[in-house]
Amino acid sequence: MLVLNRAIPNQRRRMILNQLKAALIGIGGFGKSHTAMISKLASEGIISCAAFCEPNADKFEKERDILQSLGAQHYTDYRDMLKHPDLDFVIIATPIPLHKRMCIDALEQGVPVLLEKPPAVAIEDLDAMIEVQQRIGQPVAVNFQNTSSQSFLQLLQSIREGRIGKVASVVAVGMWKRTQQYYERNNWAGTLRYNGEYVLDGSMCNALSHLWQNSLLAAGAGDPEQAQPQWIEAELYKGHPIESEDTVCAKIRSKNGVLVHMYTTLCNENNDTPYIKVIGDKGELQWNYDQSLRLTDGEGKIHNFEFEKEDLMRNMYMNLIRRIRGEETKLFCDLAACRNFVLTANGAFTSSGLVHPIPEGALDIASDETTVTTAIKGIRELVKEASEKQQLFSETAVQWAVRTQRVDLRDYRQLQLG
Ligand SMILES: NC(=O)c1ccc[n+]([C@@H]2O[C@H](COP(=O)([O-])OP(=O)(O)OC[C@H]3O[C@@H](n4cnc5c(N)ncnc54)[C@H](O)[C@@H]3O)[C@@H](O)[C@H]2O)c1
Repeated sequence: MLVLNRAIPNQRRRMILNQLKAALIGIGGFGKSHTAMISKLASEGIISCAAFCEPNADKFEKERDILQSLGAQHYTDYRDMLKHPDLDFVIIATPIPLHKRMCIDALEQGVPVLLEKPPAVAIEDLDAMIEVQQRIGQPVAVNFQNTSSQSFLQLLQSIREGRIGKVASVVAVGMWKRTQQYYERNNWAGTLRYNGEYVLDGSMCNALSHLWQNSLLAAGAGDPEQAQPQWIEAELYKGHPIESEDTVCAKIRSKNGVLVHMYTTLCNENNDTPYIKVIGDKGELQWNYDQSLRLTDGEGKIHNFEFEKEDLMRNMYMNLIRRIRGEETKLFCDLAACRNFVLTANGAFTSSGLVHPIPEGALDIASDETTVTTAIKGIRELVKEASEKQQLFSETAVQWAVRTQRVDLRDYRQLQLG
């Protein structure tokens, strides 16, 4: 057993423990969750924290104090921070339009990255990041933490084992409620571009992006090559007074012939549990965001899988840490594994042309002393009907729906906004 001697200098203790030095860029917003995870892993002796970068640290005193108590040095410019002599990996938890530059700069300093999702929103940006990552060879893990759960991995394995026969389609539904307050949380929420960079913030590229990512992984049973999107028809709508979408339905054909139907909205009355159904010729699997998984076999018998509770963010950290230490070869979600998602999202914008505003008469808008809530009238019934029949909204009787174009994605290399 290893007994730690307090007299051993810090650097040597780190080497004995193989304790990696982390640095965090962005400590507010979701960076607060990263601060908590870094603090937890540091208290367990798994990592230490060398540095953090935050231009607005006075706004996040609690996180600043936690990180400084771990001995982390505070920077206000991430490029200065990247010159720190011994960083083992950097976590990037900043606004979406900053991801590409920060990730490439970290890689060019030879530093592995844990990058918040979405890695980028324009396919040309993601491709540039993949090119640098592959050239430099340092790992980039994308924090699509739902890719790491036992339940989701079991879903993929069950598909591969043929437990539902040949997969014909994937249907995913994500219906959440987001108020005006949500759109006021930062200055890029709900925008298409911010400071000249693409953001495409909405149900697809941000709030429910985990559902899109996992659905496209499920379409290929975990093999992105199989799930490459060939074409897409998508309808983008907005109920909130924003630039980007808050409601999307889409039909996607993947390379292996699987048809994917996606329905995501932030204009629901409540937060329903998002789910993905994978439909085969001998049964059906349903994976839910609460990490439950159900198999319905060809005879209609139901089998519920059991899983232990797990911390998905911890999974993502440990996976990258093991990868850096050489104990693991595969990341749960690398940059290349996000390409189908980003391509699909770009195709969805091109297909829809515009983000179509939903007429006020079709909305329930309620105000209280704190915020304004916008819901689409009858959205649950509409999504239920459309998802069961695998239809786009424009193929149902709903008045406000707009028919859109099919877009070929086989040679699509640059985001084209309508
Ligand atoms: N994995 C998840 O479940 C999950 C959940 C929520 C958000 N996110 C992602 O986290 C990322 C951040 O989202 P957010 O809502 O926290 O954003 P945010 O706008 O609140 O910013 C996060 C932090 O980055 C800091 N920041 C801004 N510019 C910076 C710069 N140049 N250098 C250093 N720090 C800078 C901000 O001051 C803030 O502290 C996004 O990619 C978002 O999609 C992921």
